[in-house]
Amino acid sequence: MIGIFDSGAGGLAALSELRKLSPNEDILFLADRKNAPYGTKSEKEVLRLAENNISRLLFSGASSVLIACCTASTVHEKLPPPLKERSVPIIEPAAKLAAASTKNGNIAVIATERTVKSGAFGRAIRRVDPTFRVKEYPAQELVEIAERVAAGESADRFAREKIKEILDASLSDGADTLVLGCTHFSHLKEIIKSQAKGIKIIDSAKIGAEHIANGAGCGFGATVFL
Ligand code: DGL
Repeated sequence: MIGIFDSGAGGLAALSELRKLSPNEDILFLADRKNAPYGTKSEKEVLRLAENNISRLLFSGASSVLIACCTASTVHEKLPPPLKERSVPIIEPAAKLAAASTKNGNIAVIATERTVKSGAFGRAIRRVDPTFRVKEYPAQELVEIAERVAAGESADRFAREKIKEILDASLSDGADTLVLGCTHFSHLKEIIKSQAKGIKIIDSAKIGAEHIANGAGCGFGATVFL
C-alpha cells in the first residue's frame, strides 16, 4: 500500500495521477488540512509536520510514502533515517525532467514561499547542469485559490492576473520551461497553459505520481527520468 500526503488539494492531484497509473494499488491518502498552508511555515515546522504525516501513514500500513508536496519535500534530507528511506520526495524528479526538457537552459519555477526560500529547485536543477539559469517565483496566494478550484469553483480575476504576471516575467527573462513547483498548481494547469505562450510546463504532482508508480521507494530502485 502506498501512502500519500500533502497539506490539501495538491495531494489530490497526485492521487488522481497515481490512480490512472496504478489502478490496482491500495492507496492511503492524507490531506493535512488542519495545518495548511505549509508554504508559510518555518523549515522546522514543516519538518515536524512531514515527520508526523509519514509516521502516521507507515503506522497505518503504507509500505512507502509519496511526499506529494514540494514544500514538505524540501525537508526530506533532514528526516530521521527510517522515515527518509521510506518516503519519496518530488523535487528531484521534477527538476530532472525540467532539466531534460529545456532547450536553452533557462527554467522558471513557481512555488510556495517556503519552497522558494529553500532554493531546493535551483539546487536540484543545477546538480544536473551547473550552467542552467533557474528563477524561482513565490506564489503562495495561488495555494488557496487552487483549493477553491479543486472544490469546483472557477479561478478569479486575481488568480489569472497573478499567473499572467509570473508567465510574462518568465517569458521576458527567456525561460522556455516552467515547473509547477507546488502540487496545488496542478489544479490551475489549464489556466497556466492557456497563457504559457510556448513555455513547456512541468507538473510536479504528475511527475511525483509517475516516480512512485515506477518503483521509487518500493525497494526496487528509483526511476531515472532523463
Ligand atoms: N501543495 C504543497 C506544495 O506542493 C503545499 C501548499 C501549501 O500548503 O502551502 O508545496
